Amino acid sequence: MGFLIIEKGIRPGVALIRLNRPESLNALNRALVAELTDTLLEMEREEAIRAIVITGNERAFAAGADIKEMAEDSAVDMLLLDQFQRWDQIKRLKKPLIAAVSGYALGGGCELAMLCDIIIASETAQFGQPEIKIGVIPGAGGTQRLTRAIGKARAMEYILTGKFFSAQQAEAWGLVTRVVPVELYLEEALRLAEEIASMPPIAVQLAKQAVNKAYELSLEEGLHFERRNFYLLFATADQKEGMRAFMEKRPPKWQGR
Ligand code: CAA
Repeated sequence: MGFLIIEKGIRPGVALIRLNRPESLNALNRALVAELTDTLLEMEREEAIRAIVITGNERAFAAGADIKEMAEDSAVDMLLLDQFQRWDQIKRLKKPLIAAVSGYALGGGCELAMLCDIIIASETAQFGQPEIKIGVIPGAGGTQRLTRAIGKARAMEYILTGKFFSAQQAEAWGLVTRVVPVELYLEEALRLAEEIASMPPIAVQLAKQAVNKAYELSLEEGLHFERRNFYLLFATADQKEGMRAFMEKRPPKWQGR
């Protein structure tokens, strides 16, 4: 039995993935994470899909890794399993990912949202890295990504206490792009995904990579990466089309080439 509900083409160029383990608040067990990464890798190959929205349900985006599944594991079990290399595969995806978050986004759930390129939150969203309360620390990127997103002092406070923070705080601190009423969060994420999907896809992918490099490289290396890709885009038909369409005062028709 699968743990995801998938709707391809829910909007032009957009695929929706719903995490569907509601009885466990979408706790991310290994089978779910494997299914999610396999699905994302498959969608990466499908040209018709240009943006992907990941969501949960109103009560929970995901309440973290499945505590019951890992409670008795040894360090060697964890090392041999190396489940977090699956998360690295998500990080390497070229297509834009939008997280539509309502309710709990905790532990691995918060980390999954932060792996996405943009987070849209409902007013009821609650974020947190509560791993400290169960004797561990975030393991799927939380200490690094939350710190980069909201700053060291806040990340320290929330990671060392495990307490949750609200959608409104997440917005004020720059973790989420906007907060919308609970009835609208998914709609808003789909609308944004559709807007991005209507852009020239190679430029979208290179823009995504370049923004992500801002977290990884020195300014000089990042500027170099950006500039090379800017020049590279002049090899695409979509660059010619985009600039001609501008001069001819008509909408562009993208080929993805
Ligand atoms: N793993 C496994 N099961 C979970 C779960 C998790 N992370 N979160 C919730 N569940 C289960 C509960 O055990 C419960 O199942 P039962 O009905 O079988 O008991 C069901 O989901 C509903 O949860 P609650 O009854 O606890 O609901 P609540 O409204 O009282 O509380 C909550 C909600 C505050 C989110 C609470 O469930 C909670 O604290 N969950 C754990 C959050 C957490 O610690 N996440 C971090 C996990 S570690 C991690 O993610 C490591 C990493 O970096 C990858």
